[in-house]
Amino acid sequence: MGYTVVIPAAGIGKRMGAGKNKLLLSINEIPVLVHTLKVFEQDDWCQSIVLAVNDADRKDIHTFISRYSLKKIKTMVKGGKERQHSVYAGLQSIQEETIVLIHDGARPFIKQSHIHQLVEAAKAHGAAILAVPVKDTVKKVENGYVQGTINRDTLWSIQTPQAFSLALIKHAHIMAEQDQFIGTDDASLVERLGEKVIIVEGDYDNIKITTKEDLYFAQAILSKEMR
Ligand code: CTP
Ligand code: MG
Repeated sequence: MGYTVVIPAAGIGKRMGAGKNKLLLSINEIPVLVHTLKVFEQDDWCQSIVLAVNDADRKDIHTFISRYSLKKIKTMVKGGKERQHSVYAGLQSIQEETIVLIHDGARPFIKQSHIHQLVEAAKAHGAAILAVPVKDTVKKVENGYVQGTINRDTLWSIQTPQAFSLALIKHAHIMAEQDQFIGTDDASLVERLGEKVIIVEGDYDNIKITTKEDLYFAQAILSKEMR
């Protein structure tokens, strides 16, 4: 079952504080972005990759593409101010109706089995997202005082990939743009239209590389995978 993946990679990595895009940093000598791209290169269901990039990173990314013989990147669009704008730019470059996955360049440990479950769920339901149960107790707090404890059984941490039919996610992005709505993920743009989004349960290895500590966690996950 084929799909196209849009990978937003046009952030600046402010919280990492590396002085450059965190996706260019290496884990075990391979750039974070290359770890992510390789998963899709090796997945037979992935027909093409659309990458949203900063102009400043283009040269480095072209170097990676030839060094690691990456073949599936069909389009490189210019990223926008917010992640949502980068994703939208990527979506606009896709014309033929297909299942579209949107996956953060900063999540290098995504597993093929979860990608396939998402594609199948999106094919059946229109929209499917990867999620894991929340482990911590979560409370609502106002002005430093606890207002209540939220029933954890109903709480999930949301990851990427998020999978949609192209028509649905394009429409959702156009409506968000019109209403000047910025969501923290792509599914929220679909939810606000009253459309159903289904959950696929993933795992806790699919971390987003965000701060310096995440590079240590990433090392540990890689060592586990290599064992
Ligand atoms: N991203 C993007 N365009 C933006 C902002 C983010 O394509 N304008 C991408 C990032 O490159 C990353 C993904 O969206 O792959 C998730 O964003 P995040 O983890 O927040 O990365 P950054 O925005 O780079 O990090 P920070 O928020 O710390 O600056
Ligand atoms: Mg960000």
